[in-house]
Amino acid sequence: MKSHARALFVLSSLGLLLAIAPAPMEGQEGMVSSDHRLASQAGAEILAQGGNAVDAAVATALACGVVQPAGSGLGGGGFAVVHGEKGSSVLDFREIAPKGASADMYLDADGQVVPKLSQDGGLAVGVPGEGRGLAQLLAEQGTMTPKQVARPAVRLAKGGFDIEHHLLKALGAKPAMVALLDSGQMPGLGDTVRRTKLSRTLNKWASSAGEALYTGAIAQDVVDSVQAQGGVLTMEDLADYQPVSREVLVGQYRGYTILTMPPPSSGGAVLLQVLSVMEGFDLMAMGHNSSEHLHLLAEGMQHAYADRAQFMGDPDFVDVPVDRMLDEARIQEIQSQIWPMRTFESGYYGSPVTIPEDSGTQHIAVIDASGQAVALTTTINTSFGSKVIAKKSGLLLNNEMDDFVALPGVPNAYGLVGKESNAVAPGKKPLSSMTPTIVLDPQGQVVMAIGASGGPLIISSTLQVLSNVIDFGMDPEEAVSAPRMHHQWMPEVLSIEPGISRDVQQNLSARGHELKEWTFFSSVQLVVVEEGLFVGAADPRKGGQPATP
Ligand code: GLY
Repeated sequence: MKSHARALFVLSSLGLLLAIAPAPMEGQEGMVSSDHRLASQAGAEILAQGGNAVDAAVATALACGVVQPAGSGLGGGGFAVVHGEKGSSVLDFREIAPKGASADMYLDADGQVVPKLSQDGGLAVGVPGEGRGLAQLLAEQGTMTPKQVARPAVRLAKGGFDIEHHLLKALGAKPAMVALLDSGQMPGLGDTVRRTKLSRTLNKWASSAGEALYTGAIAQDVVDSVQAQGGVLTMEDLADYQPVSREVLVGQYRGYTILTMPPPSSGGAVLLQVLSVMEGFDLMAMGHNSSEHLHLLAEGMQHAYADRAQFMGDPDFVDVPVDRMLDEARIQEIQSQIWPMRTFESGYYGSPVTIPEDSGTQHIAVIDASGQAVALTTTINTSFGSKVIAKKSGLLLNNEMDDFVALPGVPNAYGLVGKESNAVAPGKKPLSSMTPTIVLDPQGQVVMAIGASGGPLIISSTLQVLSNVIDFGMDPEEAVSAPRMHHQWMPEVLSIEPGISRDVQQNLSARGHELKEWTFFSSVQLVVVEEGLFVGAADPRKGGQPATP
């Protein structure tokens, strides 16, 4: 195993920063990549103890909830794509709308959206799925007990962990969230902080295999805390919540098999649609991040995000035409609609971005020595979710309800718009962008586990890093570090990161793109198998780091 540190790239157009990013880590006994060094080490510890990739992924997710509370935790939900000897599977433990939710719950008497109601406070909270989700994932595909996999997280919460840059920055933006820490004080960089209440909750999660979060004292604490802040969550909502097993969404790209997330995520369908469109073009000849390459990506993304807004929602409530989105005829139609030298107004595509400062999502990629791979993305939605903290148990509750469409055409926190297909209904899941993905080579062997955090940028970022490896032969570090672009159809803005040359920018503007340069908050984690070695990379944008046993 080797690890170095290397200066990577200028992080911000605001004149900041030279990021010091870890180089990819290589290992022979498996690899864990997450948004936080300590969480990755938790997973690697489990692998070293003989656990499989699922055991390690669950341990990493629990540890992330401790050390990275702005972006994950048992008060949220997620999706896992798993591939191993038994085949491929998906576990959906996304939050659902409480039974007391309704389509007009975020509107005032004049039918206008009440700002922030779906983002902050009790009404923003969806029924959390992570407690039962991780427990079910472990029971079905892991080899260890909940107690074994929770041990590193409990140790971090009880024994303490050192504050790193990303959490400090997130706390600086939302200072009330220091209530999550025992001290209740704003820490300094490198200070050791503890989360004792959460350590007790984690122990109860482990001893009850997740059930303690859905009935009894912890559940009552969650319900009381949410209701005290205007929410409609009840004990019945919690008791009735169940994860759902789904079929993996499968696609092909240049001879590779892509195993990814079906609805209620839009991630897999949008990923596969854009990849299929790209397959008709010679990217190498275009050159990485050339104006031709970025224009092609932008046009493909506009079509796919337009289809997302038009058609997609919870498949248990609406008919989601994924087959039609990925149909060969539809792909050819999109390819024929891409003009090399110009872009179009939004009405040209499929069927309306202000972006918040951070996302409340995190992605974990694990491949173990046997080749079992897990792509696990979990979320509380935006940074620190609803900001509602269950007082006795230390749980932070999600604001996943903002992923619904409060009113057709009105953008959510991520600037995403949608239609009735993603309207709020009791028991329904809000449409997600999470894109946990596993890639198999033409011989059917796992070669990559990948995914991201970053709201709508999850899909575009996963797509570009995957393509950087497959199309451009980049090593994992180079692939996650390269400047990225994003276009989500509405608003009509092509976002680019610093590092895209002025020349390329001028050529994109000449095609009609309105450019906005900013440093993305999306964070991609991946593990790649290269000649028998496991190579992990974590996105320098969020300061993560991989670990190997
Ligand atoms: N909350 C982020 C997503 O599910 O897309």
